[in-house]
Amino acid sequence: MTHPVPIESTLEPAVQRELKEAARSVAANAHAPYSHFHVGAAVLDAAGRIFGGCNVENASFGLTLCAERNAVGAAVSAGANRLRAVAVYGPTQALTAPCGACRQVLAEFNPELEVHLFNREGRHAVYSLAQLFPAGFTFELEEPRTS
Ligand code: THU
Repeated sequence: MTHPVPIESTLEPAVQRELKEAARSVAANAHAPYSHFHVGAAVLDAAGRIFGGCNVENASFGLTLCAERNAVGAAVSAGANRLRAVAVYGPTQALTAPCGACRQVLAEFNPELEVHLFNREGRHAVYSLAQLFPAGFTFELEEPRTS
């Protein structure tokens, strides 16, 4: 499996900075006493609004909520229905990419969402969600062409 090639963002640099700052700052609120892995995510909606979310762990581990899905929940709760971008901040040197479940949830609001990954050293890479999550579940999946 080849690694996807990063793309250029279509967002203004100031908006990218704002989105990343929202993701980085909300990571400080993560409830992660089990993994100690504090993740922050921020989504940009079609109206230009930004919503943050952090991971919320639970002693019953399977109930843990990821940062990305909490950010989506905040956006949708405020009336967003189309997302333009997500930024994900992870506390490691390696970039933190959304887990498979979060990719499916993000795809609901734009299968070609811009996905900005960055870390505290300022490393930053942008992908299209279509690269990270092709052919996710929908009720109208197109069959791949055979000829
Ligand atoms: N986590 C996220 O919040 N987002 C991701 O993209 C990957 C994983 C959280 C879940 C859990 O609280 C911790 O990171 C370790 O898996």
